Amino acid sequence: MTYAAITGWGKAMPPAVLTNADLSNFLDTNDEWIVSRTGMKERRVSHVPSAEMAVIACKRALACAGLEADEIDLIVYGSCSNDEQVPNTASGVQVAIGATKAAAMDVNTACTSFLYSLSTATALIRTGVVKKALVIGVEWISPFMDWDNRNVAVLFGDGCAAVVVEASDQQVGVLGEQLGCLADARQTLRVRGMGTAYVNRGVTLGDTSWDFDGQEIFKRAVQGMVQASQAVMQKCGVTPDQIDLVVPHQANLRIIDAVVSRSGVPADRVMLTVERYGNMSAATVPVALAEALEEGRVKPGALILMPAFGAGLTVCAHLVRWGDRITPLRESDAAFPPNNKSALDLVQAVRARKAGAHDRSGEGMRAPKFVENL
Ligand code: ACO
Repeated sequence: MTYAAITGWGKAMPPAVLTNADLSNFLDTNDEWIVSRTGMKERRVSHVPSAEMAVIACKRALACAGLEADEIDLIVYGSCSNDEQVPNTASGVQVAIGATKAAAMDVNTACTSFLYSLSTATALIRTGVVKKALVIGVEWISPFMDWDNRNVAVLFGDGCAAVVVEASDQQVGVLGEQLGCLADARQTLRVRGMGTAYVNRGVTLGDTSWDFDGQEIFKRAVQGMVQASQAVMQKCGVTPDQIDLVVPHQANLRIIDAVVSRSGVPADRVMLTVERYGNMSAATVPVALAEALEEGRVKPGALILMPAFGAGLTVCAHLVRWGDRITPLRESDAAFPPNNKSALDLVQAVRARKAGAHDRSGEGMRAPKFVENL
């Protein structure tokens, strides 16, 4: 039987930090409200596009696994903020890292995109179609955030991480997963102004506004992640006390607390990043996983539960058995280019552009390298 081991991991967190105090510069909000309702204190704003974050994370993950890019057979790019629709963004990563033999696909299930991508890569490895894959979770939300809507603007951040998945004879990697979609609630989270539905409707593409029913999403997220977690544990014959670490989607600290306590896993076995990074959608789970490894919270052979939900409302829970190695084989020197703007500057540039005041070229934020010449 072939399994799909996670053998490399790497994160790429943009350096610019947006604090709750920064948000209260232009929104009617405050640190006390945001911390008490969400657990968030700060989040990151990227000065480079999604694919450039992904390239850094992939180079770090490849070094960690001790692989060269041309050994990779497949790249799965999990995101809902792709740099382009056509061509897909995974192909941009392929060419940028030199993974010349890799197939390349984008997967968009919003915040669950990394875990759905991990399922895709795992299935293709377990069925023998490919042997080595890069799986990316990345989000550059800041350019399409509804920055003047306090219901959503305080919740999200940018970020990226990637993992390498390789065929293995050992019973490691994804042991089982539960995937689902509460589509009757799909209207609770919608970004208007992205996609062809808005062409011919008097909406300028890229002029985004968010529909967001926070309380309904909250309820559905808790129910959905608890049910998915219970289902995958049952499928794999695992009880909550056997879970060594929960690496959940981090949309709200209160959601995480509710999911963990209702799933029956001890509260001290949870990896949290929500305070520092907010909700990075598809990037949230892989960044938390990479940090859990950096902090020594993943032991050899650990059993890891990863529940998540996202717009759609997509929902899932994955059960992963970690392998023997918990340290990188090599380090990469891939790094972000210099940035001389604060996170608040970057956000104000987006607000100004959306207000049509100036800066149609996107000052402070560059177009992806591989579309700049179009
Ligand atoms: N600052 C200050 N006050 C605010 C803010 C803010 N940023 N946002 C809302 N409020 C106000 C509201 O206007 C409301 O005021 P009112 O009582 O005068 O009407 C009050 O605070 C309470 O608002 P609620 O919506 O009841 O607050 P709640 O406790 O439900 O928390 C929250 C809101 C944080 C959004 C919560 O519902 C939540 O986390 N929901 C889930 C969100 C989520 O996970 N989204 C990710 C989706 S997944 C994806 O894939 C993209």
